Amino acid sequence: MLTHQKDIKVPLLDNYFFAPGEVIFVLEKLEKLSRKHPLNILITGRQGCGKSSLVRQFAAFYNRPMAVFQMGLLSEPGQLFGEHALRGGETFYQEFLFPKAISTPYCVIHLEEINRPEHPKALNELFSVLSENRCIWVDQLGLVEVAEGVIFFATMNEGEEFTGTDSLDAALRDRFYTISQDYLPADVEKEVLCLKSGISAEDAGMIIGIVHRLRKNPQFPVSVSTRHSLMMAELMAVGASIREAMIYSLQVSRDLVESILLSVHAETGDLQAREDKYVLFRPDQR
Ligand SMILES: Nc1ncnc2c1ncn2[C@@H]1O[C@H](COP(=O)(O)OP(=O)(O)OP(=O)(O)O)[C@@H](O)[C@H]1O
Ligand SMILES: [Mg+2]
Repeated sequence: MLTHQKDIKVPLLDNYFFAPGEVIFVLEKLEKLSRKHPLNILITGRQGCGKSSLVRQFAAFYNRPMAVFQMGLLSEPGQLFGEHALRGGETFYQEFLFPKAISTPYCVIHLEEINRPEHPKALNELFSVLSENRCIWVDQLGLVEVAEGVIFFATMNEGEEFTGTDSLDAALRDRFYTISQDYLPADVEKEVLCLKSGISAEDAGMIIGIVHRLRKNPQFPVSVSTRHSLMMAELMAVGASIREAMIYSLQVSRDLVESILLSVHAETGDLQAREDKYVLFRPDQR
């Protein structure tokens, strides 16, 4: 299955989702533009930095239906549209969610891991819906056209550890507006942890101090995602210690945990707030 979704609906708004004001501004312009013709937006960034959440928040914010498809699971061409199935001894063509999604006006279509299909030719059929003609002929379905206002969001992991490999085909990439995301600044990530998990500002500060130390570790930087810092916060919110939260949430050795804990306790005041350019991305903050 390329999606576990059964139907196409507007996702729930995340009340505690932050994004750079400039990104929110540009997304507003792109949303406007999509009303003239369908368009494609690529979001790149490291693992767990909030790519999928940004797409979901966009759909929720603009009250648009959304469907998500895992491109990383595509193992052969044709798989997005449907398959031949057997019912009562008879074969029939079972249409998948993808053709329905692209025919839904104003739908947000999220193509996850667009740079990693299992089959190199699996993206070929996608090319025609993302390129200027915006339609594709499928023998079993006829001409499938992209409906008005549709926005394709593609996401891909692209950070230090991904350079060179799995890079997106140039011709395909050429058809996307691109937004590159990074981890949140320390002060904003700290606020997210407090708001989402309910831990104290002090505990959140401790987690962020550790996380940022790991990310900036000169010998072996560890890529700790926002997902992981949230996992730590949630574990602490139900009573785990910072040490337990680190050991069970982060995939690092106990030795590293101990040395980081030592250095955090040895120093204080390392949580310098960066300039606050991040604002809440939700309708009542417009
Ligand atoms: N800017 C943000 N504001 C609030 N929460 C965030 C933000 N960015 C990420 N998160 C939280 O961090 C977690 C991971 O985010 P998400 O799944 O969107 O990352 P991703 O980049 O799509 O990850 P992957 O690379 O694994 O696909 C989610 O629980 C999300 O709510
Ligand atoms: Mg994701």
